[in-house]
Amino acid sequence: MKICVFGAGYVGLVAAACFAESGNNVITVDVDQAKIEGLKQGIIPIYEPGLKELVIRNQSEGRLSFTTDIEAAVKASLISFIAVGTPPGEDGSADLQYVLAVGRSIGQHMQGYKIIVDKSTVPVGTADKVRAAVQAELDSRGVGFEFDVVSNPEFLKEGAAIDDFMKPDRVVIGTDNVRTAEIMKELYEPFMRKHNRMIIMDIRSAEMTKYAANAMLATRISFMNQIANLCERMNADVAAVREGIGSDSRIGYDFLFPGPGYGGSCFPKDVKALIRTADECGYEMLLLNAVEEVNELQKHVLARKVLDLLGDSGADKPLAGKTVACWGLSFKPRTDDMREAPSLTIIEELLANGAQVRAHDPEAIKEARKTFGDRISYSTNQYEILSGADALVIITDWSEYRNPDFERIMADLKEPLIVDGRNLYKPDRMQLAGFRYIPLGRNG
Ligand code: NAD
Ligand code: UGA
Repeated sequence: MKICVFGAGYVGLVAAACFAESGNNVITVDVDQAKIEGLKQGIIPIYEPGLKELVIRNQSEGRLSFTTDIEAAVKASLISFIAVGTPPGEDGSADLQYVLAVGRSIGQHMQGYKIIVDKSTVPVGTADKVRAAVQAELDSRGVGFEFDVVSNPEFLKEGAAIDDFMKPDRVVIGTDNVRTAEIMKELYEPFMRKHNRMIIMDIRSAEMTKYAANAMLATRISFMNQIANLCERMNADVAAVREGIGSDSRIGYDFLFPGPGYGGSCFPKDVKALIRTADECGYEMLLLNAVEEVNELQKHVLARKVLDLLGDSGADKPLAGKTVACWGLSFKPRTDDMREAPSLTIIEELLANGAQVRAHDPEAIKEARKTFGDRISYSTNQYEILSGADALVIITDWSEYRNPDFERIMADLKEPLIVDGRNLYKPDRMQLAGFRYIPLGRNG
């Protein structure tokens, strides 16, 4: 099939490469000239495992191309995917300016029937707005081409994006048109090898499904973070509690890991946007207000622990003279994405209290520099930052932190203190090894 994808970001680039991999002819369009020029030369603007190889192979085999020429891309394709950003506006609602701009561009250039697929995360009712934007352009051109607008939200996770796209748990298609549903089924057929995972529904329900899924996952995390905080106070072990409740198949084990709060480009913005959507129709999402509030508080928990353990409570800058080594800057492993990363809050709080901060991250240092500049020091060697530090704080669960050289950590740290925001180690073993180990929601 002939497809064009608007937006060469995480979602657009992954979708474009995966559709090309399954044999389609895909043109990726972006307004960012530098990004497109880079992509033409095989330079991938984000770190996502497996993406570079996929892009380069499909590009060299002629199925995947990159352009800023919107007109040519629209004219050459039957299906246009919209995968541009929907960042939060000032009031938290999703800013639809980029989505609607793409709708207008399609209306300006289409020359016959088109399927316009909304893959960006957008509030209920957006398909109607896209339809109106396209129709207004057709009207002003005085042409009457037919088109359908489809909602096809994306559920991929950064760091596992290719796998999630190629082997999806489900593909949700919101459409009011049987013919369009058939074409979308055909397009996704190659990703349904084992069994059919297509769920066809009406457009508004598809738009809502995306927000409900992210809000549900965010709710699980905030719930578990509160349970962890309570476990600490009650001398219980959240890891055991997770196993105890996760074994109930109605609950399941996933997304019940306590941590320094959820981050990333999606959970925080989508929870806010759903709260705003409800506001607009006079309904209050009481539960989601709490989910958000708990998450904001949770981002301070690790820095608070360091303050309690190392701080001089009488001093103006309680952590003056202390050096804190941090493992992990990105909001999660296997990505360089720093958007809404808990490390941003934690490190700012440590700095505000006078600490010197050194940080390690395998991929996100370039991104982190944009926020912290020279206010902290960086290394891509996880041990280099430990020498003479008063504590090690683990913020992100990169796999290289799971089984590190504990002898080296013990030798390098000034104090053998580890504050672990991801519960990576066994507390009894850490104690035996002589560490002062402070996990989340369990006894150190
Ligand atoms: P991104 O910011 O990484 O990329 C968006 C791209 O769109 C940018 O390259 C930008 O230059 C381009 N763009 C903006 N206006 C354009 C236009 N008029 N024409 C062509 N290109 C244009 O965004 P992302 O992380 O890929 O997210 C895109 C959407 O998908 C959002 O709604 C997001 O919520 C949703 N989503 C993201 C993820 C994720 O893991 N990042 C997962 C599922 C859904
Ligand atoms: C999330 C969803 O998982 C995807 O399904 C969705 O498509 C995407 O948002 C989106 O809409 O953009 P992502 O943000 O890439 O994907 O990352 P997750 O793996 O979901 O992690 C989000 C945050 O939750 C991270 O900060 C992570 O550390 C935290 N988390 C996750 C926990 O604290 N505990 C857990 O048990 C799981």
